[in-house]
Amino acid sequence: MLEQEIIKRLITAALDAREKSYAPYSSFMVGAAVYTENGQIYSGCNVENSSYGAANCAERTAIYKAVSEGHRNIKAVAVVAGMKFEKTVYTSPCGICRQVIAEFGDDDTYIIMAVSPDEYKIVTLNELLPYSFDFNSYK
Ligand code: THU
Repeated sequence: MLEQEIIKRLITAALDAREKSYAPYSSFMVGAAVYTENGQIYSGCNVENSSYGAANCAERTAIYKAVSEGHRNIKAVAVVAGMKFEKTVYTSPCGICRQVIAEFGDDDTYIIMAVSPDEYKIVTLNELLPYSFDFNSYK
């Protein structure tokens, strides 16, 4: 299980990252933070585009930051989201992000859906993405 202190640090990092959200089209501001195997935290926000399909979710921004710094094993992901100027709401990662978490995590990777450092729900990736596709298993 994750220590309380780590959970709170991840949620705080996700809340800070959410402040940087670039969401002029949806106004849905999202922040995420990932906890790597060696205990580092990387955070990110959603980054939208006038060509809507080019948007990148906060979870993937955070994961790609970790991977591009050499950290490929993800133990936990925290996500906080909500409409601009409104309270945050429990939000679970989209399908594409679940697949990306599967690439760098495992069945037991924790997904922390938070509204504040004291209010959160934790599930595992296996609960969100059972029977996930893993090309490595065919090699
Ligand atoms: N979004 C995320 O960043 N993460 C999620 O888990 C759900 C959706 C973003 C994508 C887009 O910028 C906005 O939220 C509305 O879909």
